Amino acid sequence: MTQEQKAGRYERIFEQLHVLLVKSNNPISGMATLSALLHHKMKFFWTGFYLLHEGKLQVGPYQGALACIDLKKDTGVCWAAINQKQTVVVPDVHDFAGHIACDSRSQSEIVVPVFMHDGSIIGVLDIDSDERNSFDETDARWLEKLVKLIRA
Ligand code: SME
Repeated sequence: MTQEQKAGRYERIFEQLHVLLVKSNNPISGMATLSALLHHKMKFFWTGFYLLHEGKLQVGPYQGALACIDLKKDTGVCWAAINQKQTVVVPDVHDFAGHIACDSRSQSEIVVPVFMHDGSIIGVLDIDSDERNSFDETDARWLEKLVKLIRA
């Protein structure tokens, strides 16, 4: 897939999600809808959310194989995105110290923080690929734009 094709797919997902969520202010519904759209239209390997709950980072709505429920605090890519409050792109998970392998087939990953309108961070969108080097700046910018549609 070329960069233009990828951007075109994200743009269509953005338009569809906008229409679907225009009357919703429930972030969980938005997360479930965005997971399904991304997973099936972008054909990702694993697509879902990890949400902060009582100081823990726990799995939320997702599509794909069974995933870890709790992520060990301050360990792995999802916690890195929470602590840095920014998107983390991992071209090869084997090079990321502390990476948590819920599925040994995962090879690369992107994690995007989810902020509410008041600036609070409630969790992350986590996408895994079974190939190395799957994610780049195009994914980062579009995914950041998409998660803004699920804010309450
Ligand atoms: N790899 C993540 C854990 C979640 S799974 O990818 C679904 C991490 O290191 O935080």
